[in-house]
Amino acid sequence: MTKKNIIYRGAEAEICIAKYKGFKAIQKKRIPKSYRIKHIDDRLISLRTKEEAKLITEARQSGVAVPIIYDVDLKNGIITMEYLDGKRIKDVLNDLSEEERDSICTKIGESIARFHNNDIIHGDITTSNMILSNEQVHFIDFGLGEKNNEIEAKGVDLHVLMEAIESTHSQYSSCFDYVLEEYKKVLKDDANLVIKKIQEIVKRGRYR
Ligand SMILES: Nc1ncnc2c1ncn2[C@@H]1O[C@H](COP(=O)(O)OP(=O)(O)O)[C@@H](O)[C@H]1O
Ligand SMILES: [Mg+2]
Repeated sequence: MTKKNIIYRGAEAEICIAKYKGFKAIQKKRIPKSYRIKHIDDRLISLRTKEEAKLITEARQSGVAVPIIYDVDLKNGIITMEYLDGKRIKDVLNDLSEEERDSICTKIGESIARFHNNDIIHGDITTSNMILSNEQVHFIDFGLGEKNNEIEAKGVDLHVLMEAIESTHSQYSSCFDYVLEEYKKVLKDDANLVIKKIQEIVKRGRYR
């Protein structure tokens, strides 16, 4: 590994641009937490790194566009992956034509159904965690993800996106309808059960 420069620092991880065998790459390194006991922190970091890399790999096998994993360093909590040259959906969605926006939302719905078909829960489906690169919507950041076959988990996963669209793309709330429309077509389970779950979660929130 050569040169390193940090482009993003989150609460859990920092993201560096790096090179991997000549390829431009991204390194996601989980940051140690000094308030946790060291050996417990090491274990947690290693577990989460392993889990995220596994979910990214499985999402790819489900036919979803995700970065290629180049290397996983469990000891240091580093995933080295393909650098996606593009823009976050969050930063482009509002500026697209209506036609392009609908087409992107359709692709988002298709991808979510594909990973849900394999019981992959992303855990943080927001438009910040999608990168438009080579005209494909790539999903990144499976750091809060898990394997779970329950309808509830799938509903919660989609509800996060619904809220993200309402807050970040409030003038385009129809986006979520396009997501669901395609989701219904591609999901193997009965998508209406998942949609019912979303409605339940919305209601629960309202009466809290
Ligand atoms: N493979 C990648 N290619 C290009 N940019 C990336 C890639 N992975 C992450 N990023 C950039 O780094 C930011 C944070 O990465 P992310 O995995 O979402 O970390 P966090 O878990 O802290 O949210 C993303 O919003 C994106 O801008
Ligand atoms: Mg993120």
